[in-house]
This record gives sequence, structure tokens and C-alpha cells, in this order.
Amino acid sequence: MCGIIAITTSSKTNVSKMITDSLKKLEYRGYDSVGVATINNGKIEILKDIGMIDKVNKRLSLENLRGTIGIGHTRWATHGAINQENAHPHSDCKGNIIVVHNGIIENYLDLKKTLKEKGHFFSSETDSEVIAHLMEEELKQDNPNSSKINAFKRVINKIEGTYAITLIHSKDPETIFLARKDSPLVIGVREDTKFAASDIPAFLEYTKQVIVLKNGEIATLTPQAVYIEKNGFRVQPKPVIISWTAESAQKSGYPHFMLKEIHEQPIALKNTLNIDPRVIEKASNKILEAERIIFLACGTSYHAGLSGYHQFQRILKKRPLYKVIASEYETYSHLIDEDTLIIAVSQSGETLDVMKGLGAARKTRASIISVANVIDSSIPRLSQIALYTKAGPEIGVAATKTHTAQVALLARLALQIEHDVGLLNTTEFNENLGTLVTEAPQITRTIINQNEFKAKELAAKISNQNHAYFLARGYNLPIALEGALKLKEISYIHAEAFPAGESKHGPIAIVEPDFPVVIISPNDWTAKKMLSSTEEMRARGAYIISVTEEGHNIIERSDYPFILPTSLSLLRPITHILPLQMLAYYAAVKRGFDPDKPKNLAKTVTVE
Ligand code: G6P
Repeated sequence: MCGIIAITTSSKTNVSKMITDSLKKLEYRGYDSVGVATINNGKIEILKDIGMIDKVNKRLSLENLRGTIGIGHTRWATHGAINQENAHPHSDCKGNIIVVHNGIIENYLDLKKTLKEKGHFFSSETDSEVIAHLMEEELKQDNPNSSKINAFKRVINKIEGTYAITLIHSKDPETIFLARKDSPLVIGVREDTKFAASDIPAFLEYTKQVIVLKNGEIATLTPQAVYIEKNGFRVQPKPVIISWTAESAQKSGYPHFMLKEIHEQPIALKNTLNIDPRVIEKASNKILEAERIIFLACGTSYHAGLSGYHQFQRILKKRPLYKVIASEYETYSHLIDEDTLIIAVSQSGETLDVMKGLGAARKTRASIISVANVIDSSIPRLSQIALYTKAGPEIGVAATKTHTAQVALLARLALQIEHDVGLLNTTEFNENLGTLVTEAPQITRTIINQNEFKAKELAAKISNQNHAYFLARGYNLPIALEGALKLKEISYIHAEAFPAGESKHGPIAIVEPDFPVVIISPNDWTAKKMLSSTEEMRARGAYIISVTEEGHNIIERSDYPFILPTSLSLLRPITHILPLQMLAYYAAVKRGFDPDKPKNLAKTVTVE
């Protein structure tokens, strides 16, 4: 949550244009307010306001600030209302020190009280502002010419909580000071320019050389150098080259990132399923050694984890398996010990609730496998085995291609386990694997192409509705949950998903004529029962939308069926979510909302 960018360059360019462009790429992390600060001729220039970047930029000309060093921030409010004062960057009393922060400073009230007693004047209600004043206070103890890094380190020692911080000082006009704990911060390296940002797409246009700052590290960037230290010892930076292209973080002619990312699913699946078989075999061994397995995740990733849970349950039968929403991990802490394996699913690899759960699990020496999209992010680094989806950068807040890539990776793993426990012989395994790898991208492309117009048409029909239900049974429930989440998070139509049989125990009470009910019903053991649930809803006048397969009786009992080809059961959580992603997208557009930036949400949630 919150996007940070900082740039220092020795070229003669003003950095504010680059900062503003980078902020646009980080806007998915929050868009309550935006601000940019630069140092120009030894003086800080700062502009900030509430609203999205393009509008604020139009009003204030953020991109015209002068100076070759600067920082920017796009905010998802935690402490303090959404107003101009609380927008970042924040400064000290004299306006020499400027800071942007992502995370939460837990002891800020105590620090603020002490600083106020010492005469500091605060302009905002944020926790972040204390960092600038603390730095001002610490510098009073040092010789004005001595290096500011020591004061910065003392500041970092005083704060508690989670943070990615970038700070600049008008009297040190080439240096950016950085610190990170539990909130992401990556460094971009170009010969004459250095970048720091919350996420790689922010500077992908300028460099592909990336250093991931790790928890507890403090760094300084100058145009020529990157210096990193941890616990007082110098750390040798290890840059990695990112394969993502700058275009992959742009809309490439699509009206929204979400639509582009929906269409990128075939390639995302192809790349993801092309994973090194040795990593999958290693993960399968680890799974088979564990006494109990816990899927841990949040949001859409939790739904991918649920699909994995059902696949594993089918194969591992009596082995205890659990599915845990990461913010609830404390409730399950009694299950976690050295014989437990956690499978953490997270596209960003930075979701704080998941990290907290993994932190607690590591203390008990539990094993961890992660499924993440962002290379070298925190969650993979907390794991013994990191499995990467290769979906490329996902910018739309509502996850689409990373979700189906996660499901595909877990399906690939399930297939391996099925082989390793002897349920599939090698010939059967190779056949199924071949089908998975070739069929997943192809069938996905076909379904998207055949159903996009229908999804748009249906979105127009239901866009004036206030509620919708999504029903499924058994292993199809994750599809209903994900379909409902997509619709509600971007179109703001209240959508609920539940096991179809539960509708009689409450939800059906509010069904009335034209109430949209989405029925997920492939040709499987759930088909008959789903037909009964459909009839119950029809009897109350519900408008039946089905996601079904060729030859299913439900087709003629539906007002609006999406008829998909019957495919491998492993693929259903991928294929059957596609029409619902498109329905959500077009419903949001029809209702006049920006599907890429739903209100009150952020893509990477780095607060508890
Ligand atoms: C936020 C995003 C969701 C995402 C969830 C978990 O709520 O808006 O799209 O599913 O975080 O994020 P993760 O990065 O852990 O997958």
C-alpha cells in the first residue's frame, strides 16, 4: 500500500517528469493523494494534493518541478484523513528534510509527543511525519558537515513498525537515504542514475537492473553508487536482471490494464507451466514429508489456494490439510510445528498478513513453500522453496492473470504429487502433463475470445442491479468466491458466494424477480444438485446466469448461460473464472467506474 519512488541522477535532466511517470505505474498501490518533492539549487520544492496523479499533475504541474534528485508518493491512507496536509512528502520544521513512507510507525504517538516537547511543529496527522522530525532532531547532535547516514541510522533504530522509507536532505543534494522493514523497496541501477521504488514497474522503462532491499537493510543512493548496510556491516549488492519489458507494464492500446491482463492469461499460463520440473519435484517431496499442510493467503490468492487445497485433498486423502486466511493465522497457531508445511500464495510476495503468519511459522521451524509472482520478494525469501508464476507485472488492482497462473502452478504441483504417490504411472503422468501444458493456454484463449462479447452484453443487463449471488458446490466453490469478489471489488455491486445448499438457510430470503444468481456448474458430480439449486432460485424469479459446459441440462434452465467446452477437471478453476472476470470488468465500465483503481483498495497490502 502506498507507492514510493525516488530518483537521483547526474545527467542534466529534471527528475520530476520521471517521478510523475513512475508514480502512474505505482498508482495501483493507492490513489488517495499524491506528492513530489525535489531539491533545486539547495532548496526543497514540494507539491502535493488529494486525488489521482493525472488530475493533481494537471492542477499543480508536478512534472515541472526542477532538480536532479527527488522523491514521490501515492497514498493509501492509514493514519489521518485524506487531505492535502496528510499527503506525502512530509518535511521537518525547517523544510530541509523530506520523507515519504509506506507502512505504519507503531510508536509514532510517543515519538511525536517527545518531539513536540522539544519544540517540533507538526503539519499533518500522519505517523510518517515523525521520521522527518526525528532526523532533524538527530542531526542536531552531529557536526553539520558529518555524514548524515549515522543520524538516519539512529532514526531507524528509534522507530517501530513497518516501513519503506526514502528521505532526502537539501544540504546533501545527491543522496537518497533508504530503509526497509516489512514493506517493499527495490533499487534500480543505471550508470548515471539510481532509483528506489515500491515495485519494479516504476522504473522498468529506465533500467532492468534491480537490487531488492532486504528487511533491516539501510542504504544510500547517489547517481554513481549504491551503498547498503545491515546491522552496521556493509552488504555487497547483488543486482538481478528482470526479464519483464517496459511494454508489459503499459496498457498497449487496451482501455484498462485489467482487460489487457485478462487477455494476457494464455501467455501467462504458458510461461508459468514451463517451470523447471526439478523445482516441482522438490516441492512435491517436501509436501509428502509433511504431517499437515496449511494453505495461507489473502484475497484472490486465497481463492487460488482453495483450488490447490481441493486438488491436494483429492490426492492426499487423509493427510490433514487446512486453508487459512492469513489475517486469521493466530487461530491456527496450535497446528504449526516443525512437521507442518505452509504453502503461502501471494502474487506480490509482500502481503503483510501472510508475512506475519510465515514469521510465526518460522519460529516453530515449520517448512514453507511459496507461490509468488514477484521475483525475490519477501514471501519467497521466507520460504525454503519458492515457486514463481510467470505472469509478468500485474497493474490492475483486481488480480486476473496472476490468479489463473497461481491455480495453474498448484495444478501442476498436484499432478506431480499424484504421480509421486503412485496414483498415476509415468505414462499417465506424462499424458496429463502434456494436456495441461498445451491445453491450458489454448482453451483459455478460446474461452476469452468466444465469451467477451457475451460478458459485455450481460454486464449491460445486470449493471443496474444492487446484489448478485454466486453459487457452487465442492471444489467449484473457489470459482464462485472469486467471481463474486471480482464483481464486488470493481463494480461495487454487492456480490456474495456460498455453497449452493446453504442458500436455503438465509440468503434466498432476499431473492426477488430479476435478482442475478450466477451458477457454476460443470459436467461433474455437482451437476444434479446444482440444477435443484437453480430451480429453487428460478421459482423466486431470479435471473439465472450459468457458467456451464456443453450438454448440461442447466443450459435450458438459464436466462444467460456461458457454455464452455468440457475440459480437464484440473483446468476448471482457470477456465470457468474467465467469463466472470470479463463480466466484472464490463459491469464496472458500464457503471462508470475505473476497474483498474477500485475505491478504498490497493494491490499490495502492506498493513495488518
Ligand atoms: C489485495 C489485492 C488483491 C489480492 C490480495 C492479496 O487485496 O487487491 O487483488 O488478491 O491483496 O495479495 P497478494 O499479493 O498476497 O496476492
